Amino acid sequence: MSIMIRAGVATDAAALAELAARTFRETFAADNRPEDIALHTAHAHGTSQQERELADPDIATLLVEVDGQLAGYAQLRSSVPPACVTGEEPIELWRFYIAQSWQGRGVAHALMRKVERDAYRRGGRTLWLGVWERNERAKAFYHKNGFMDVGSHVFMVGTDAQTDRILVRPLTTVISNGAA
Ligand SMILES: CC(C)(COP(=O)(O)OP(=O)(O)OC[C@H]1O[C@@H](n2cnc3c(N)ncnc32)[C@H](O)[C@@H]1OP(=O)(O)O)[C@@H](O)C(=O)NCCC(=O)NCCS
Repeated sequence: MSIMIRAGVATDAAALAELAARTFRETFAADNRPEDIALHTAHAHGTSQQERELADPDIATLLVEVDGQLAGYAQLRSSVPPACVTGEEPIELWRFYIAQSWQGRGVAHALMRKVERDAYRRGGRTLWLGVWERNERAKAFYHKNGFMDVGSHVFMVGTDAQTDRILVRPLTTVISNGAA
């Protein structure tokens, strides 16, 4: 299995939009109302939306290809963090999705290592994210990867106000492990 991780470019917009919508549905459709999933997808996913994200200097998009097929993506974003994120130079891991057929095969692990290095290179020293309180697999994955729970915030999925746990991890270990 050959895993390649690269920065997304403008011509990836359509493929990224399809992957983002598909992985969002795979992850959340079973536990949410269809109309809320549709509302979320209508504003968050689509070729023009992903074109804007790929062109935005405050967003870094990483695409994972496994054996030449798009298998997942992650996005880092410069944003104002919630007050519970107190570490220096925070940077948000905004989205992190592996397509269902590639989960549990080490692809997420490879993508997380790349995310850490890119976040560090962009000047981040504290990586933070929001994860739905009911997303047990993702919470377990993040805890295995050194993230700690520091609080919560509200995340709207369509009309549904959900509680996200806020997780953080320092990026200082990235350089001490020689990975930056
Ligand atoms: C959350 C998510 C990124 C985790 O990725 P994953 O591949 O499912 O990772 P997991 O830690 O659950 O599974 C890893 C397992 O894969 C298996 N595995 C097989 N080969 C592996 C390898 N080379 N390296 C690492 N794990 C490997 C192991 O059994 C490992 O379990 P262990 O670490 O307990 O031994 C992924 O499930 C996902 O994208 N989910 C949907 C989207 C989502 O919820 N995103 C988060 C939004 S905040």
